[in-house]
Amino acid sequence: MVNAVPSSPESPFLAACRGEEPGRTPVWFMRQAGRSLPEYKEARAGTSMLEACRTPELVCEITMQPVRRYGVDAAIFFSDIVVPLAAIGLDIEIVPGVGPVVAEPLRTEADLKRLRNLDPCDVGYVTEAVGLLRKELGDTPLIGFAGAPFTLASYLIEGGPSRDHAKTKALMKSQPAVWHGIASRLAAICGEFLRVQVEAGAQAVQLFDSWAGALSEADYREFALPHSTAALAGVAQSVPRIHFGVGTGHLLEAMAETGAEVSGVDFRIPLDEAAKRLPDKVLQGNLDPALVLADDAALTAETDRVVAAGRAAKGHVFNLGHGVLPDSDPGKLKLVVDRVHETTTR
Ligand code: CP3
Repeated sequence: MVNAVPSSPESPFLAACRGEEPGRTPVWFMRQAGRSLPEYKEARAGTSMLEACRTPELVCEITMQPVRRYGVDAAIFFSDIVVPLAAIGLDIEIVPGVGPVVAEPLRTEADLKRLRNLDPCDVGYVTEAVGLLRKELGDTPLIGFAGAPFTLASYLIEGGPSRDHAKTKALMKSQPAVWHGIASRLAAICGEFLRVQVEAGAQAVQLFDSWAGALSEADYREFALPHSTAALAGVAQSVPRIHFGVGTGHLLEAMAETGAEVSGVDFRIPLDEAAKRLPDKVLQGNLDPALVLADDAALTAETDRVVAAGRAAKGHVFNLGHGVLPDSDPGKLKLVVDRVHETTTR
């Protein structure tokens, strides 16, 4: 077990994650740091994404920006899912408007040796940035994160973003031993990346399996679930663990088997329906990010609907059903935070 830093007992976010009654429904947004904020664009000017992730003062500033502006109940650490992969020496670049691009994709058994274990010293800038943030954040909890093995493997095998994940699925089925070799090494890397953040002071973690929805339930169970379970096991019993994927309505029960305390629900499944299927889980979600671009009346009505549906769950952390869209107006996100707080404060 890792040594988690004790955190403020009254945080609505942590109370909700633990299945306790929070003073109000907590709210934060996936991809709240970066993307739409003008102060983010200013802070990042002239610095590449990966360089920014390796600069503790900048990480601290960007992580704080949405906390200051929106008054959200949790901060998400500013980094990226490919940071630990770049840290072990893989040649990865984050191309603006595209996403992670890998110079030499992994496809064969010989490529396995390129996935060495992550040493905490490889990401000393993460430890330092988390330490700075805990001082800045006061009582607001910090969420650490990692990409899940399947989602990371897809970038490494495809060489970049992919719509159909065809090469990944083909490798899984035709060379299952190579697949499990890649995914188990990624699980170790991502488990270590989570542990580093928790040891440094992160009070919760989220595992992003953004592309898991591309798998059938049977394939998810065989090729992804064991590796995500292993990745999350490293921080079990130390902090609440949130598990999230997109288009994963058919995988809700299977993904819950990883043991995460909180299940992320994307916007395609109403929370009350998800609550019937996962009565023992705290749910996180699930306002459609596109609604943030709607007028105030529609946005408020939909926010209220999500809050109401969330009451069916064991606990509810309000969030979007996926990340903030780049065109989002920060004022609209503030409206959502205020509405959730106003309507749920006990
Ligand atoms: O608020 C936050 O969530 C900030 C931290 C964060 C980033 N990426 C910063 C980032 C987190 C949690 C992520 C996770 C991430 N990265 C995921 C899982 C979440 C999801 O959206 O499903 C994935 C799949 C990635 C891979 C990745 N990195 C993509 C698809 C992109 C977008 C490319 C683009 O420009 O549209 C990135 C780059 C990235 N990661 C940016 C940020 C702020 C944009 C880079 C920039 O501003 O130049």
